[in-house]
Amino acid sequence: MTLSKDAIVAANRGAWNEAAERHRAHGQYARLLEGFAKPGFSVLDATLTARLEALGLAGKAVAQLCCNNACELLSIKNLGAASVTGFDFAAAFLEQARELAATGSIEAEFVQSEIAKIPARYDGRFDLALVTIGVLGWMPDLKEFFGTARRLLKPGGRLVIYEDHPILNMYDDRDSGGPPQPDESYFRGEPYRSDRGLDYWANQDYAATPCYWSFHKMSDVVMGLVRSGFALEDFEEFAHNIGTRAHMENQPQQLPLSYILVGRLAPGEP
Ligand SMILES: C[S@@+](CC[C@H](N)C(=O)[O-])C[C@H]1O[C@@H](n2cnc3c(N)ncnc32)[C@H](O)[C@@H]1O
Repeated sequence: MTLSKDAIVAANRGAWNEAAERHRAHGQYARLLEGFAKPGFSVLDATLTARLEALGLAGKAVAQLCCNNACELLSIKNLGAASVTGFDFAAAFLEQARELAATGSIEAEFVQSEIAKIPARYDGRFDLALVTIGVLGWMPDLKEFFGTARRLLKPGGRLVIYEDHPILNMYDDRDSGGPPQPDESYFRGEPYRSDRGLDYWANQDYAATPCYWSFHKMSDVVMGLVRSGFALEDFEEFAHNIGTRAHMENQPQQLPLSYILVGRLAPGEP
């Protein structure tokens, strides 16, 4: 059965809200609460920090699309952004985002919305829109996603994507102990359904609301950006893990595990 885009998004929202209490109960969340109580705390790795610092955060209005508990967005505010706004459809994760912000008295706005339906009052408000680690696969329609990113940005604004490499769609995200073996086609067309839940912090399955992950090839992502009117400013693939694939690092035949992609709107672009 082929599900509609709306049905996929509705199922995914249920699955994410269901996962939130599990994440909150994890020691990782307690560490975030402790961390953000300290001034200047950041969870960003050296790669993303260097790229964002090179683009310059001072004076910038930054949006994060699919911010989850906003630990990355709050880090960006701590690194000097003028203002930060996080969008996510999962109210239960935005509660955590608000709690983390309050812990460090960090000024931030959080908006509960499906990405494609972000209200028009946010159009043209941002210098930089960020997407990180495990977002694009939740988007059944990449063209719509890039269109939303574009309308949120000011002329000259940038979209920064720091993501798991789509080749990882071919591999189970668990460590089987041996060298990684592909079990899916890179070119899979139908979204992948999972009933295992989204507790990737504890790495524990539970009887979960089904959720649907769409496979987008690297070329879909790059050309989606370009066809939506962004000029390609930076694109690099990395061997390091940024998500749940630490076990796939340092292999003799190393796969690309992550990438950064930066697109920029023309300065005069509406
Ligand atoms: C893996 S998290 C990525 C965020 C962050 N990088 C992290 O590591 O926590 C994915 C987030 O996307 C959100 N999400 C998925 N599909 C969405 C949609 N269509 N609209 C808005 N948020 C969505 C989920 O609620 C979740 O918080």
